[in-house]
Amino acid sequence: MAKTLILYFSVYDSTHHLAEEIARQTGGDLLEIEPLIPYDKNRDHYDALAAYAKKEHDEDQRPAIKNTIDLSGYDTVFIGYPMWWYTFPMIIYTLFDTVNFSGKTVVPFNTHMGSRDGGTYKTVREKARGATAGKRRSGVPRLTYGRSAIADCFAPLHTLAHLTHKYLEENS
Ligand SMILES: Cc1cc2nc3c(=O)[nH]c(=O)nc-3n(C[C@H](O)[C@H](O)[C@H](O)COP(=O)(O)O)c2cc1C
Repeated sequence: MAKTLILYFSVYDSTHHLAEEIARQTGGDLLEIEPLIPYDKNRDHYDALAAYAKKEHDEDQRPAIKNTIDLSGYDTVFIGYPMWWYTFPMIIYTLFDTVNFSGKTVVPFNTHMGSRDGGTYKTVREKARGATAGKRRSGVPRLTYGRSAIADCFAPLHTLAHLTHKYLEENS
């Protein structure tokens, strides 16, 4: 049977909660992308984090990943992240620079406060080397698109369940 990994990066835990729910509904394993230098999780320090992330973005930095990202044995890899400055956090670029997605079906998902996917799903498809990403006939990319505030509003999870199962039926 196809094995699924839900790989995610999260600072304030919204993406983390969504990843947990996807893992629950798909029976997949969870793996957090842990930064070598942790980000400040205190929401009261949001402005500082915003400035820090902006500098990473503007300097095209590649923040190091602390843990090993081992995709062996997985057929489908969900990749989840928050929107930061209208794109994904720079650590996701580090992921694509260092991890080979050959032979995997990649399914991006995100959380945000208005930017939806900001074009990042397309970038994921381009950057995930070797992946068979972007099967648009499946429901999952549409499911994640614009539904990612899901972590703050659990009602749409019925849609998530439905579309995730549909996706797995089509792809396993
Ligand atoms: C540094 C930073 C930049 C952000 N930039 C955006 C943005 O450009 N567009 C948007 O919709 N939300 C933006 N947000 C909001 C986050 O995407 C949103 O709160 C997300 O759910 C946080 O995910 P997390 O709880 O998993 O860390 C930003 C948040 C932070 C901390």
